[in-house]
Amino acid sequence: MGKKGTEIVASKIDVNEVIADLNKAYADEWLAHYQYWLAAHWVSGINADAITSRLTAQSADELLHAEKFANRIMELGGAPVMDFAKLAEVGGCGYSKPPEDQGNLKQVIEDVISAERCAIDFYNRMVEKYRDKDYVTFELFKTVLLDEVGDEDEWEDLLSQQP
Ligand SMILES: [Fe+2]
Ligand SMILES: [Fe+2]
Repeated sequence: MGKKGTEIVASKIDVNEVIADLNKAYADEWLAHYQYWLAAHWVSGINADAITSRLTAQSADELLHAEKFANRIMELGGAPVMDFAKLAEVGGCGYSKPPEDQGNLKQVIEDVISAERCAIDFYNRMVEKYRDKDYVTFELFKTVLLDEVGDEDEWEDLLSQQP
């Protein structure tokens, strides 16, 4: 753990609270990664190709977000969620399994959009919370927030293109 870095954070806010917020984000990123990855492999049909390639790319992005949050948690002397079964409990945005109908692309897209919107809402609150308390965590939430805002926009476009 970074001693000086953690000391600075601890002078403004309870470090355990920061770690808990970061773990919530970490769990949500894993769930989004898994949701998008599984949906990418599950969907089928003539219009599925574009959706599949976006889901695959974005699922990789969400895993990179999880990695960033994990690194920050460890920098602060914490541990990322160790029990895989606890992810849904720790996260704030839930997990939507792919629809039974593999051709229901609209449902898949809507589920992605609601996950992105939930993340945007949470990260936006975190940016507000940390801007004067922990600049490193603030920058991290801000960076990921920008990504999710871009994601939401992209999926809204994909939704509008659905028949
Ligand atoms: Fe993400
Ligand atoms: Fe995203």
